[in-house]
Amino acid sequence: MTSILTNVAWPYANGPRHIGHVSGFGVPSDVFARYARMAGHDVLMVSGTDEHGTPISVQADLEGVTPRQLADKYNRVIVEDLQGLGLSYDLFTRTTTVNHYSVVQSIFKALYANGYVVSHAQQSAISPSTGRTLPDRFIEGTCPICGYDGARGDQCDNCGNQLDPIDLINPRSKINGETPKFVESEQFFLDLPAFAETLGNWLATRTDWRPNVLKFSANLLEDLKPRAITRDLDWGVPIPLDTWADNPMKRIYVWFDAVIGYLSASIEWARRSGAADAWQKWWCDPEAESYYFMGKDNIVFHSVIWPSMLMGQNGTGDHGGELGPFGQLNLPTEVVSSEYLTMSGAKFSTSRKQVIYVGDFLKEFGPDALRYYIAVAGPENNDSDFTWEEFVRRNNFELANEWGNLVNRSISMAFKNVGAIPAATELRGEDLELLGAAKDAFGTVGAHLRRCRFKQAISEAMRVVGLANKYISESEPWKLKEDIPRRDTVLHVALQVVQDANTLLTPFLPHAAQKVHEGLGGTGVWAAQPRIEVVTEAGGPDYPTLQGDYATQQAVWESRPLAVGTPLAKPTPLFAKLDETLGQTGPDFAPLV
Ligand code: MF3
Ligand code: ZN
Repeated sequence: MTSILTNVAWPYANGPRHIGHVSGFGVPSDVFARYARMAGHDVLMVSGTDEHGTPISVQADLEGVTPRQLADKYNRVIVEDLQGLGLSYDLFTRTTTVNHYSVVQSIFKALYANGYVVSHAQQSAISPSTGRTLPDRFIEGTCPICGYDGARGDQCDNCGNQLDPIDLINPRSKINGETPKFVESEQFFLDLPAFAETLGNWLATRTDWRPNVLKFSANLLEDLKPRAITRDLDWGVPIPLDTWADNPMKRIYVWFDAVIGYLSASIEWARRSGAADAWQKWWCDPEAESYYFMGKDNIVFHSVIWPSMLMGQNGTGDHGGELGPFGQLNLPTEVVSSEYLTMSGAKFSTSRKQVIYVGDFLKEFGPDALRYYIAVAGPENNDSDFTWEEFVRRNNFELANEWGNLVNRSISMAFKNVGAIPAATELRGEDLELLGAAKDAFGTVGAHLRRCRFKQAISEAMRVVGLANKYISESEPWKLKEDIPRRDTVLHVALQVVQDANTLLTPFLPHAAQKVHEGLGGTGVWAAQPRIEVVTEAGGPDYPTLQGDYATQQAVWESRPLAVGTPLAKPTPLFAKLDETLGQTGPDFAPLV
């Protein structure tokens, strides 16, 4: 039993999230955490909305509200969507809490005290027409390293190098196309070169990470430059140093504060659970493991910047230092990054209305159909494309026909003929073979999930479903009216494998899994779901969070023998079949033209 911290990238509270977002950070992290809990590990899963910086202030301007109002609005929307999707956070909070501000400022001070934060003047971009700072991500131009034309001010997605906006050739504002003006401004920097050796040595030990993350991180290591961690902006965490704290126009950079959210959310969770130090079990015990889930544009912050910040706090960067106020904090066990989900061949784009929002999707199709699609066809190792045609096909032929039908016909036959879970008498070779395959799958599927190989895991689980369907077709229990013991044996075996497959699929399809559990005569909570809880905080306003009682759920990662004689009821279909035309037309909320 291991303490497993599941850290999930913090979605910006600047709009509703689309299915591309949740295919990166959301579904994979939840499948992992649900599996780990079922396998008996101690899981702490945290995240929240990312509410500072220019992504928020730019959108607030567009909507004509304050950044705080904007963050309040979308924090609520995102909390509801993530709950609807069934993401089992122990705590989903936000970055505008009093607790978060205090943890961020403590980390900043610890890094500063250890000499890993330095200040100097920098050229910073402003918009000539408004006089306001132009954030790195909103500047586009040609990459000075590889020549790619769509490079952003903070990084080039083509060659993976970190950039400064001033390095871009032909820089232009993504907001209005104008050429930014560069002015001199005093900023604080995280001294990344001061971690080059320790960071390099540590990354060299991470050989089992996904190739995309390793490759990206290795590129970054070759050219570590000090990285600005403050901005000329009036929205963010104040800089906790005398003479700076009251400066209304300088704030900590949103990324510096956001990654600290993993720690501050863990601390908040512990306080809310009534044991203020409980977070240390996941952060300070060297045996504990930590997994970070995100889309690929987040890699640099998790594989280079956050580990450096942790080492700086720990006093273990290249020039050492004092142990910081949080004790010796663990570096990431693994940074798990997905690639991108595209939509019918193109990047999701809110401005071009090329977008499928999670909320709309859930209302029409429910959570498990989306979870399934992301697990089997999502961007785990390669960019992947979402099409309505493929969604309909997967839903109808795999979820409904294969899995839904297996559940339905097994339970219906047992209900009609026996009214309860029948007993098996004499098991034959084919019975034992199927039962054995289902039992063995716990080992293979579990090993894949432990290593975040979700596609392989779900296809192994679905293979068991396929074997069970084949077994029923070949055993033809409906023709066994003259041989009741054999008929009941077949039905018993089928139901046992339905139960096993349901356990194997629970991390992926937790809502359906609860229904199957009940369909098999089970009661109580099989797979627990997050609930929205409005919390109070001393010194700040109330806010909604996601929390859950996952420890009390019944789902355990093992084959459990069915209780013969458990009464059954007539089952209702598990998954609705979708009209095939949806593949050509798309739904009303995202029509294909
Ligand atoms: N808000 C960022 C994004 O949506 C992700 C932040 S992850 C963090 O790209 F944990 F570092 F905050
Ligand atoms: Zn480049």
